[in-house]
Amino acid sequence: MTTRLLITGAAGGLGRYAREGLKGCADVLRLSDVATLSPAGEGEEIVRCDLAEREAVDQLVRGCDAILHLGAISVESDFDALLQANILGTYNLYEAARKAGVNRILFASTNHVTGFHPIGETLDHLSPRRPDSLYGVSKCFGEDLSRLYFDKYGMETACLRIGSCFAEPTNRRMLSTWLSPRDFLALVRRLLDAPKIGHLVLYGVSANRDVWWSNGHADFLGWRPQDSSEPYRHEIEKREEEPSDGVRYQGGRHAAAKLPG
Ligand SMILES: NC(=O)c1ccc[n+]([C@@H]2O[C@H](COP(=O)([O-])OP(=O)(O)OC[C@H]3O[C@@H](n4cnc5c(N)ncnc54)[C@H](O)[C@@H]3O)[C@@H](O)[C@H]2O)c1
Repeated sequence: MTTRLLITGAAGGLGRYAREGLKGCADVLRLSDVATLSPAGEGEEIVRCDLAEREAVDQLVRGCDAILHLGAISVESDFDALLQANILGTYNLYEAARKAGVNRILFASTNHVTGFHPIGETLDHLSPRRPDSLYGVSKCFGEDLSRLYFDKYGMETACLRIGSCFAEPTNRRMLSTWLSPRDFLALVRRLLDAPKIGHLVLYGVSANRDVWWSNGHADFLGWRPQDSSEPYRHEIEKREEEPSDGVRYQGGRHAAAKLPG
């Protein structure tokens, strides 16, 4: 049982699901964001913190025994912004965790670390990374950093390459990439409860008909996604025309867009 679980990015979309859905997973949820959070409820602590500020992050992490690291710029952005929040922020978090003796981190990576693979290929944790954006590159940094901290210090990380985690899938791409909030929360719980996870890379995706990713190596977790995008297919396909020829890559518009700057 986790005593104190730190959730970074707790004011964001997934952070709000986690705040509600992970109640009882730890004695205390320490909720943190650079943005304002609503006041602490029972079993909660609120700590406002910019992940780019090293000393503040050191303090933030102290006393926690696991971290769900969601805090980041979650879309394509200019490099300087990604450098602060995603690269420096993740480095600060891992250093603080090492110093505080935190041994398990669930790192919100993204499917955009492999977004330049074409649709039609099935990927797994061993497929080469082909980031489709500067955002994807910033998450590759986090994955590599977590590997370094595992190899050097034995700190365990699950890199969750999240597909599209929203209440419902809303476009054709999400018919393949959708991760329901319920499946996301069940996966997080499994990762917190498993006796050992080592350094694990896995895709966060529901049991959709046309998934592009395989998680066979992570069967030991016992996580079986319950939801599927199929009930939404008819409406989406009626609303959205066939994907254009430009959408050849798994990363969709991230792969198609020009880089910022
Ligand atoms: N939602 C998805 O489908 C999805 C898909 C792939 C990856 N992810 C990853 O999961 C995580 C959560 O995604 P989300 O959809 O909730 O994103 P979000 O943008 O809604 O939330 C991210 C939160 O991080 C906070 N944040 C940004 N910079 C910060 C900083 N310097 N210090 C502290 N906090 C900072 C923001 O204020 C925000 O509340 C992100 O890391 C994202 O990259 C999400």
